[in-house]
Amino acid sequence: MAETMDRNLALELVRVTEAAALMAGRWMGRGDKEAVDQAAVDAMRMVLDTIQMNGVVVIGEGQKDEAPMLYVGEEVGCADEPKVDIAVDPVDGTRLLAFGMPNSITVLSVAERGTMYASPDIMYMDKIAVGPDAAGQIDINDSVAANLDRIARAKGKGIGDLTVVILDRPRHETLIQQVREAGARIKMITDGDVAGAVMASMPGTGIDVMLGIGGAPEAVVAACALKCIGGDLQCKLWPRNDEERRIVQERNIDTDRVLGLDDLVSSDNVFFAATGITDGELLRGVHYAGDRATTQSIVMRSKSGTVRTVDATHQLSKLGQYAPFPFD
Ligand code: FBP
Repeated sequence: MAETMDRNLALELVRVTEAAALMAGRWMGRGDKEAVDQAAVDAMRMVLDTIQMNGVVVIGEGQKDEAPMLYVGEEVGCADEPKVDIAVDPVDGTRLLAFGMPNSITVLSVAERGTMYASPDIMYMDKIAVGPDAAGQIDINDSVAANLDRIARAKGKGIGDLTVVILDRPRHETLIQQVREAGARIKMITDGDVAGAVMASMPGTGIDVMLGIGGAPEAVVAACALKCIGGDLQCKLWPRNDEERRIVQERNIDTDRVLGLDDLVSSDNVFFAATGITDGELLRGVHYAGDRATTQSIVMRSKSGTVRTVDATHQLSKLGQYAPFPFD
């Protein structure tokens, strides 16, 4: 590992997610998903380039031809070292933010170069995520009831005390039925399964486990957070349509392969930063008051296991004097 990776990047990375949240938060409730995303991408991209690192976007906004910024393969940062992989989700929950609903966050992960999983053009994964107290107790190939039973025992609770977070999608009809039959409680979310996975792994959120099918890139981002927290995550690629099933066949992709935390990010030196945009269980959103705005973020590093909550007050007119975008 390059010596320079010993620098704790976490507190520099949180400036990136704070900037994205400050810019994107202005678009809350305006119903414009594109504008929400664009604001976060612009801010994130510009602040990323002020960080002393040599980053390559591995999880980003798509391919170069469809994304002007933060596309997969784009180089970010302003130094030759450390060489790192970057995973961004400028807004996890663009719809949540566009319609002023809770739990939209902006997220960034960094790990040593070549250590993040690049999904082979399959957009979704089936996922199960828990916190440190139930790590090692999950098996994505086992039944929902058996998993919930082991998780409840590990947490010293009954199954009826568990709360499972699930994306509200028709594809989860059977899953929801199985969780209900097992006797656990359900918190349905309309979007945002990065926040869902992080909530399941942090104390005090009221969530014990996340189950269900969500974005593959989001699984890698969540894996970075769970590696820092000491949680556990298992995933399997989930081809969503004939086109993806054709890709699976042509490239001989093993969709039965269980991807654990180390498959999704093999480095033991991972950084994760997230800032709330709309208020939620995980993070408070951006609040604006004249020249000031407040943000709340979490930043983590797997090597030390330190998880920090960062409450910040930003003076917008001052930022606007030297930042390349209008904060106020
Ligand atoms: P974006 O806001 O980044 O588009 O993602 C929101 C999200 O809810 C993710 O958290 C989740 O992994 C994915 O979409 C689920 O996909 P879909 O909405 O197609 O079911």
